Amino acid sequence: MTTRPRKPAAGTPAPGKLALPELAQLKLRRQPIAMVTAYDAPSGRLADAAGADLILVGDSAAMTVLGHDSTVPATMEEMLVLTRAVTRGARRPLVVADMPFGSFQVSDEEAMHNAIRFLKEARADAVKLEGAGPMLSRVHALVGGGIPVMGHLGLTPQSATMLGGFKAQGRTAQKAVRLYEDALALEAAGCFAIVLEAVPAAVAARITEALSVPTIGIGAGAGTDGQVLVWHDLLGLYEGNSPRFVKQYADLATEIKKAVGAFVEDVRERRFPEERHTYAMPEEELALFEEALEDVAERR
Ligand code: KIV
Repeated sequence: MTTRPRKPAAGTPAPGKLALPELAQLKLRRQPIAMVTAYDAPSGRLADAAGADLILVGDSAAMTVLGHDSTVPATMEEMLVLTRAVTRGARRPLVVADMPFGSFQVSDEEAMHNAIRFLKEARADAVKLEGAGPMLSRVHALVGGGIPVMGHLGLTPQSATMLGGFKAQGRTAQKAVRLYEDALALEAAGCFAIVLEAVPAAVAARITEALSVPTIGIGAGAGTDGQVLVWHDLLGLYEGNSPRFVKQYADLATEIKKAVGAFVEDVRERRFPEERHTYAMPEEELALFEEALEDVAERR
């Protein structure tokens, strides 16, 4: 009897993929978790090569990649294309697809349908959705259906208008308690991790202590279990105003302008392409080509 390699069972992570339960282990070991956003195959590949644990295909793509002034216009179809590109590039990190505004608010069924699309069509490992309250039922339904869900509390950009703009949240005792309770409720509903965005460091630290699942902070201080930054902010590619919690690690916009500017100059000054950038052909073929052109000219 021949033995054939057995195909992994459906739902088995790809070889080399960080196992989801490992995130809770990282929290237990107090080992910080690094998450970064990515929106295409090269950024997915680079984030993987740089050692990120989690990649978020954030609906921030609406602003960073698609040129909108908020995250609200991001559509399912756009997010599916971007997520599929990232999963082609990234191997080890868990890839989390951000559910865009309108894709999960209406009903558990619609949330389920759209989350399944992220897993089946875009090969995401998990989804993220913003909010608690009525969204707890979505989390419950998705997790019950075998879909890992990351929560997102604090400044939830999809409801920025209701929150009074892109502002820190939970800055009064009453609002901080609400955040704390929402975080506990998201954990109870089954979230495997929770993003805390733009909340006071002290509040984020207390929430982190109270949860057994990891918190991933962005503008939430050093007391969370992990940190996330948006690709374009981290690399200096976003030319809008960045919030105060952004740390820019490179100035790629300047580098890109310099490089593209040099190309434009070279083209105008006929310095590009050089001999080494061009293809030659055998002398005899060139002579035949010239002859053939004369024939073509005569026939016209
Ligand atoms: O869309 C996004 O990039 C996010 C992060 C800021 C957490 O939600």
